[in-house]
Amino acid sequence: MSDSPSGSGLDRRRFLGLAGGVAVGTLAAAARAGDSGPSAPGTVLVTGANRGIGLEFVRRYADRGWKTIATARRPGEAADLNALAERSQGRVVVEPLDVTDLAAIDALAEKYRGQAIDVLLNNAGVGGGGDNQIFGRLNYPVFDEVMAVNARGPIKMCEAFLPHVAASAQKKMITVSSSQGSIGSVKMPMLYFYRSSKSAVNMLMANLALQLKGRGIIVGLVTPGATDTDFMKGLPKAMLRPVTDAVEGMLRDIDGFTIERTGQFLDTKGGLLPW
Ligand SMILES: NC(=O)c1ccc[n+]([C@@H]2O[C@H](COP(=O)([O-])OP(=O)(O)OC[C@H]3O[C@@H](n4cnc5c(N)ncnc54)[C@H](OP(=O)(O)O)[C@@H]3O)[C@@H](O)[C@H]2O)c1
Repeated sequence: MSDSPSGSGLDRRRFLGLAGGVAVGTLAAAARAGDSGPSAPGTVLVTGANRGIGLEFVRRYADRGWKTIATARRPGEAADLNALAERSQGRVVVEPLDVTDLAAIDALAEKYRGQAIDVLLNNAGVGGGGDNQIFGRLNYPVFDEVMAVNARGPIKMCEAFLPHVAASAQKKMITVSSSQGSIGSVKMPMLYFYRSSKSAVNMLMANLALQLKGRGIIVGLVTPGATDTDFMKGLPKAMLRPVTDAVEGMLRDIDGFTIERTGQFLDTKGGLLPW
């Protein structure tokens, strides 16, 4: 499916009581007890969590009993996310974060210093708008923004949150990429910025996978397929997957990532996409 934008063992109650975050020791103890499988509740940090795919990830992880750090550019306007957090009995914590703000990423990492994050989920993304990326009238400020959100943001998140992920049981750094970033799959020229940003983030994560494999940290790239969110506004619904299906598929892939599979770029069925 092509996706092009138009524009447990662990006792659940232990986590419910840990509104401020899961202590490193708790997860380490769980790991020692052999209780660190992908479905065992841990802690996840999701960027761009206020709507679309990010919001659905938060909903699903919270349902699984995970502690969820849900970041959004403007939490004051994130009504759906705030309502979810209110119902979550402390499992979902909302934090402000613009992933283009490098100092803000560092500050958030500092705030959570000493707390383990099992899955760092780089989800925030922008398409840039089709009209801005037509060769002959490319809009370069938009190019900079798309690269800053889709490529620079994820690698900076991985740098800043490395200690948190390294201290966790599951040790996963996952980025929501796109088949549009697969150079081996492109058939017609379009979306210069968006495609480039996803190819760039793929290369950043391929590097990172090699860098961190020796430390047991798993780096993965997942893809939702063309999904019914604001990202695809204006496209016929019949062409789009429900967001619940897209997230279900990516959760399967995130759960299935192991250190042997680190660095893989997966399609919507969990198979390998060409770079
Ligand atoms: N939907 C698809 O068909 C599709 C296909 C392939 C890949 N993807 C990828 O899936 C991911 C999620 O897309 P989606 O469909 O859920 O899109 P969406 O509904 O447009 O949501 C995008 C999210 O990213 C956030 N975001 C944008 N710029 C940000 C920034 N500078 N800092 C922090 N957050 C920022 C948005 O926050 P605001 O509300 O503040 O703007 C929003 O929460 C993206 O990486 C996208 O490239 C989507």
